[in-house]
Amino acid sequence: MRRIVVGITGGASGVIYGVRFLEMIRRYAKDSEVYLVMSNTAVEILRHEVGLDKESILKLANRVYNEDELGAPIASGSFKHDGMVIIPCSMKTLASIAHGITDNLITRAADVALKERRKLILVIRETPLNLIHIKNMELVTLAGAIVMPAAPPAFYNRPRTIDDMVNFIVGRVLDLLGIENDLYRRWSGYSEE
Ligand SMILES: Cc1cc2nc3c(=O)[nH]c(=O)nc-3n(C[C@H](O)[C@H](O)[C@H](O)COP(=O)(O)O)c2cc1C
Repeated sequence: MRRIVVGITGGASGVIYGVRFLEMIRRYAKDSEVYLVMSNTAVEILRHEVGLDKESILKLANRVYNEDELGAPIASGSFKHDGMVIIPCSMKTLASIAHGITDNLITRAADVALKERRKLILVIRETPLNLIHIKNMELVTLAGAIVMPAAPPAFYNRPRTIDDMVNFIVGRVLDLLGIENDLYRRWSGYSEE
């Protein structure tokens, strides 16, 4: 059984990525056990941006925690899992992880993933970037995380809809976790046009 820890933060204009990721785990990795934490800001943004309430998202996970539940199993290195994805990951959460500030369950679980040398994928969504963002990305990368910007998506697969663009990013995150998917058209060379 694959265990995946998912954090959804208030990287506004990006909560849709988190929702699609949870839906696609259900489609492509049914046997997975998903541990979900949504930040308080993400819950707020969910209503505005995606028009969904918290309950409909929580149904997509096996276990759900609030950001202040620091006693949850995922806060401990003794809890084994196959990877943590923060999607989207705000610049604030990135900064906390980069500097070891573990004041909520998302940043604590991420800190634990790094110390236990487990896979940590941060799907950031901000543009343009200032030097602080870039330095924080450097720090987490040196510590072992994978930084995956959600903006902009690639255009070689000629996206036509917002769904195509979201699926491209989510498909690439599933790839990083080793989960087979056909969410986007893969580059197969110029000759295959
Ligand atoms: C309208 C709006 C848009 C925002 N867009 C982004 C964004 O694209 N990327 C980002 O990193 N933060 C963005 N933020 C800021 C985060 O929501 C804010 O830093 C928040 O404290 C993040 O908290 P969290 O990481 O605990 O969810 C936005 C905030 C608002 C109100």
